[in-house]
Amino acid sequence: MRMSRISVLMCLLFFIGPPLPGQAVPADAPYKNPGLPVEQRVADVLSRLTLDEKVSMLAGSSWMESMPVPRLGIPAIKMADGPMGVRSWLGSSAITSAANAPAKVEATSFPAGVCMAATWDPALVQREGVAIAQEVKALGRDMILGPTVNINRQPLWGRNFEGYGEDPYLAGRLGVAYVRGVQGEGVIPSVKHFAANNEEYERHRINATLSERALHEIYLPAFKAAVQEGGAWNVMSAYNLVNGAHMAENRPLLHDVLQGGFVISDWGSTYSTAPTVNAGMDLEMPGGEPAKTFLQRPQTLESGGSDLWLVPDKVMAEIKAGHITGAQIDDNVSRILRVIFASGLFDHPHNGGGEVDTPAQRAVALQGATEGIVLLKNEGSLLPLDAAKVHSIVVLGPNAAAARTGGGGSSLVHPKYAVAPLDGIKEKAGSTINVTYALGVGMEGEDPAHDTADARARDLREAVDAASRADVAVVVVGRYNKLESEGFDVKTMDLPAGQDALIEAVEKANPHTVVVINTGDPITMGGWLDKTPALVDMWYGGQEGGHALAAVLFGDANPSGKLPVTLPKRYEDNPAFGHYPGENLQVEYAEGIYVGYRFYDTRNVAPEFPFGFGLSYTTFQYDNLGATPRLAYSGKTPIFGVVVDVSVQNTGTRAGTEVVQLYVHQNKPRIDRPVRELKGFQRVDLQPGETRWVHFRLDRLAFSYWDPATRSWTADPGEYEIQVGSSSRDIRQKKVVNIPASFLRSAE
Ligand code: BGC
Repeated sequence: MRMSRISVLMCLLFFIGPPLPGQAVPADAPYKNPGLPVEQRVADVLSRLTLDEKVSMLAGSSWMESMPVPRLGIPAIKMADGPMGVRSWLGSSAITSAANAPAKVEATSFPAGVCMAATWDPALVQREGVAIAQEVKALGRDMILGPTVNINRQPLWGRNFEGYGEDPYLAGRLGVAYVRGVQGEGVIPSVKHFAANNEEYERHRINATLSERALHEIYLPAFKAAVQEGGAWNVMSAYNLVNGAHMAENRPLLHDVLQGGFVISDWGSTYSTAPTVNAGMDLEMPGGEPAKTFLQRPQTLESGGSDLWLVPDKVMAEIKAGHITGAQIDDNVSRILRVIFASGLFDHPHNGGGEVDTPAQRAVALQGATEGIVLLKNEGSLLPLDAAKVHSIVVLGPNAAAARTGGGGSSLVHPKYAVAPLDGIKEKAGSTINVTYALGVGMEGEDPAHDTADARARDLREAVDAASRADVAVVVVGRYNKLESEGFDVKTMDLPAGQDALIEAVEKANPHTVVVINTGDPITMGGWLDKTPALVDMWYGGQEGGHALAAVLFGDANPSGKLPVTLPKRYEDNPAFGHYPGENLQVEYAEGIYVGYRFYDTRNVAPEFPFGFGLSYTTFQYDNLGATPRLAYSGKTPIFGVVVDVSVQNTGTRAGTEVVQLYVHQNKPRIDRPVRELKGFQRVDLQPGETRWVHFRLDRLAFSYWDPATRSWTADPGEYEIQVGSSSRDIRQKKVVNIPASFLRSAE
């Protein structure tokens, strides 16, 4: 008698049986063998997990932990924020902000993402990733919730400081570097917040409407690079909706575009069960009791935070109803398991106990803060300060004596120490220069004692008086973590109350005034910039910000930072103006692909300071630009590339570093294109008089645009201008190349 296939299966199941809770696992089970390929281990462990166990893995067990399966030795993934160092992970979000955490977790506070972006130094960002991952392990965690690679679409986003600026190529290079650094240490990064998360306003409910072209050319590339080139083990889905779908339910983007490691939800950013699981959103965070408490808070409910959706009873109900298949559960759980094995977490759990804030980690923080400083203006070479001629310095402003290490929210790290600008300047000045301090104006909303009309008048008087008696005045202005933060957007591009007036008054009293900007988002400078001899942007420089600033002011370091964002003259000039924060919970990205310099340069809107701009204490000359389209062969496969060489000479008297930027312009494009797009950059260290060749190799993608008609990256044959220079508005050398169709075709 022949048995049907189903009967055979039933018999097999009867004898082998599905795994039972509590069932013993042999010591030599293949998944326990580190020598076997990851896929084999995943398949083996998957076959041993019960459906209940698999489903349990889809939701967090606590605020920062995934659900373990102790029966099989599958560990919880222990997470920590992220991205600028390790933040306290204890308790609910409301109590873990660095300022008021009940149990302080101290770690190195690295510069804000925008400051690291200003270094244009992927190698350094990779070292930062290594340093952060080492601290993650030292503190007994497995995963760091960063990098943030969202694009700075408009100047008021409360989290612009976390990201890598306005250009997708720059953000992509740095995102890949961060991921490589972290993963090289066996720690899991989380590339966030996927995608088009560019404002805090109504973050649970806002629907970003944008063209497919803007999505592919501006908002997705950094994520794709992190996943496809960096091999990122994890991506975090954003709170917002994109084109009508919540990101946690956005299968076309999560599953079809990303295809990488596993996906976690941003904290409380799930809004359904079956659509979320079926979208390939693998792990809902947070979970357990802390999540329940957090979600039931009136503030959470009011802001649109919803519920726990991937808890076992809800997922099981949807499986029973036939809305989720077993294969889908296996798919999602496999993605989590793959990373648990690939990262080494299964075989080598991180039990903590190592050191944090070591000299090596501090050195990375200091280098980031230093390289990230952008010298915006330096009339009459006021900087660097000449220690032989300057006998007295007064340091003024609400950000002078306080170390403003970063913006607010989940990224704020609690360091063991932090160097304020005043501390750094005093330390550097030593005993030969007399350094004094006056507040000048209280930081808006910080200290009621300095917030009365009388107090403000007195503080200003004192500052002006001190400025008039010193050789040099350094005014440190900006915002702080209660005005610029996750959770809300910045109200205005103007400096907080009284700071413009302080700068104007000090500039009148002392012609040798250095203005230092210490904030993440752009500020308006129209009222005083003309009269400012020296202007420095230090962003939020982390715990070593004060040392870095002093090194630049006194010339120990030659500034090499370049703007990763355009600084507009007026808020009204920015391309998203009129389309932010949106109406009726809809924000239309009407500017399309014209974000940042793509807009300012194409539409000829003069910015205050352009993208890529930054001065040095030396000067650089560019010569000999060569650009040649080539077809090379790897075996029989033709590989298309344009080889670009340019020589750069240090024509000044100090050693310095230039960030050489390469932009591509297409002559007569068949589709609307920005006048230039960044496609390459390199930092070049040069001694006085030294010349070096800088080489680039541009691939097909460097010439491509996203064609909505074919829904693919397309490069047209024809003329392209290769532009090389020192900022998007300071192109020093240009060369036209003709790319034949045959080259592009053969590269397909
Ligand atoms: C933030 C994430 C963060 C998470 C965990 C969320 O509110 O958007 O960036 O990683 O909280 O703290």
